[in-house]
Amino acid sequence: MKIKSADFVMSNSDVAKCPNEPLPEYAFIGRSNVGKSSLINMLTDKKNLAKTSGRPGKTQLINHFKINENWFLVDLPGYGYARVSKKDKKTFQKYITNYFLQRQQLVCSFILIDIRHKPQPIDLEFMQWMGENGIPFAIVFTKADKLKPLAIQRHVTDYLQHLLNEVWEEAPQYFITSSSKKTGRDELLDYIDAVNLEYFDASRNNPI
Ligand code: GTP
Ligand code: MG
Repeated sequence: MKIKSADFVMSNSDVAKCPNEPLPEYAFIGRSNVGKSSLINMLTDKKNLAKTSGRPGKTQLINHFKINENWFLVDLPGYGYARVSKKDKKTFQKYITNYFLQRQQLVCSFILIDIRHKPQPIDLEFMQWMGENGIPFAIVFTKADKLKPLAIQRHVTDYLQHLLNEVWEEAPQYFITSSSKKTGRDELLDYIDAVNLEYFDASRNNPI
């Protein structure tokens, strides 16, 4: 899929105030600093569309970006950021949780995992929670440029094996990406294109 336009629409902390157009949307979630905002910039080919930082905790709101005038990418704050207070963490969690539970237009979430790291409880718990609540997701391994090809394969195989042993009967759909090298861009955009087509077909057949 070609990206013809990518525009920031709004930021807020209330799912009820998110854009109310019936367009499919894709959310990026994962630990702080894993590369969510960078991935949005890489996919849209816009360097500064989503704000990024070397310091964790940069993204603090639900951010909607409208793509090609007919679907949304959503940048979210990271979970597991140690430097915000416990109270702030709870507030983060509450509105992120509400977003996932209430957002009708959310067709797929991408859970980002730093490809260098071993499976972490916080990510596994989050996947478990998504599964229990029937919220579809795919895994996106990030920062693949930090490993050599053989190590990439080994890390991904180990990670998926861990998921199969501990959490799931079936491995989820996954992507290997690097925002700095643009790895995985075509695959992710093709996937989104296919899900968009399904969404628009279904809404044609079941108009509200
Ligand atoms: P929060 O908004 O704080 O939750 O972080 P985030 O997940 O949005 O991460 P962000 O995109 O801001 O990136 C965090 C850091 O990782 C920045 O220094 C990026 O330059 C770096 N980074 C992101 N993606 C990649 C990548 O693919 N490769 C490399 N080498 N660095 C990356
Ligand atoms: Mg961010």
